[in-house]
Amino acid sequence: MTKEEGKKWPILLVDDEEDIRDVLSVSITDMGYTVHEAETGEQAIDIFRQIDPPIVMTDIKMPGMDGIELLQKIKRENPETEVVMITGHGDMDLAIKSLKFEATDFITKPINVEALEIALKRVQDKIVMKRQLKAYTQNLEALVREKTELQDHLSSLGLMIGSISHGIKGLLTGLDGGMYLVESGFSKENQDQIKEGWETVKLMVDRIRKMVLDILYFAKERDLRWERVDPLSFAEDLAATFAPKAKNQDIEFVREFDETVGEFEIDAGYIHSALTNILENAVDACTKDVAKTYHKIVFGVRQDANHVIFAVFDNGVGMDADTVSKLFTPFFSSKGRRGTGLGLFISHKIVRQHGGEIQVKSTPGQGTLFTIKIPKTLPESVKNPAAVAK
Ligand SMILES: Nc1ncnc2c1ncn2[C@@H]1O[C@H](COP(=O)(O)OP(=O)(O)OP(=O)(O)O)[C@@H](O)[C@H]1O
Ligand SMILES: [Mg+2]
Repeated sequence: MTKEEGKKWPILLVDDEEDIRDVLSVSITDMGYTVHEAETGEQAIDIFRQIDPPIVMTDIKMPGMDGIELLQKIKRENPETEVVMITGHGDMDLAIKSLKFEATDFITKPINVEALEIALKRVQDKIVMKRQLKAYTQNLEALVREKTELQDHLSSLGLMIGSISHGIKGLLTGLDGGMYLVESGFSKENQDQIKEGWETVKLMVDRIRKMVLDILYFAKERDLRWERVDPLSFAEDLAATFAPKAKNQDIEFVREFDETVGEFEIDAGYIHSALTNILENAVDACTKDVAKTYHKIVFGVRQDANHVIFAVFDNGVGMDADTVSKLFTPFFSSKGRRGTGLGLFISHKIVRQHGGEIQVKSTPGQGTLFTIKIPKTLPESVKNPAAVAK
């Protein structure tokens, strides 16, 4: 709500002659404005800074700082202010000069009350219209922004459909291969071949499932379900799932949990998916690394004053700076058919939705550290963005 709505509009009236101020003040107050008076330009600036009135009326000729100088100073402080000059007979030159400095209007002494009322009404209308125009422009800018976001979303959807079709085609070829092995294994009664074919089928189905779940997440945003969670048991659940997976690949899985970490407020399902992808990437990075024989993943939980901090370190292949810079872009993947490249894009989005951040440090050939920082208490703007925006 603007400062004038439902209230009287303030006007700063500046004139060195007390009589004129008195008379004008009474008339202007009768017209429904709140009048603040100043005797000199200097005093006017002081009052202006305190109340920032939308309208200033000033005598053009005053001892000390004159009306023109005051006009310029006020325009510098707030160019939106409407300044009406009060001129005497023979001040035409000054009046014209004041218009050059963007005075809104001028009225001549002796002042006719009706003319004054009309002039002030015009100024008021001008202010209201300027404000409406500003509101419309802002609205328009918001609409343009929304349209751009929609276009981005559409073009990434197009990109996604292309990448998914390609990915699924690859997975179906794998599935066909597995089915062929199973079938021919049956007809030849070759148990090993059946087993090998069946493993391939299961792997391909797993990958298709993961891809579909990613797509579902990407396509449909549900509201987040906030709950208070103990980070230690949350991390222990994740570790319990991952330790056997890592062990299968000959990777040591190390827990580094700070036992003093207190509760935080998250959508546990979402943060679980975000960390799962980062841990899966760590396993992939280790298995891909043929240069080293010993591999490990260190999964840590700690805290600072306001955050719970998860860390996932792997001593796998690492990444160059170019790869790191593309990490959170949708569909960026170096895993060919095995990755959709949606994993980190989604992890990042989830952490951002929690008001948190992900940092990455990586050295090619040595390994990678992901640090995921999540606020312990959610700012209201994160939890309930719609209400805060109102
Ligand atoms: N710990 C890591 N070490 C090395 N490279 C990594 C690591 N984590 C991510 N990357 C790189 O970032 C890419 C993008 O990862 P992201 O999780 O988004 O997709 P993805 O794992 O390829 O596929 P998916 O959608 O199945 O997760 C990976 O393909 C890989 O090149
Ligand atoms: Mg991944």
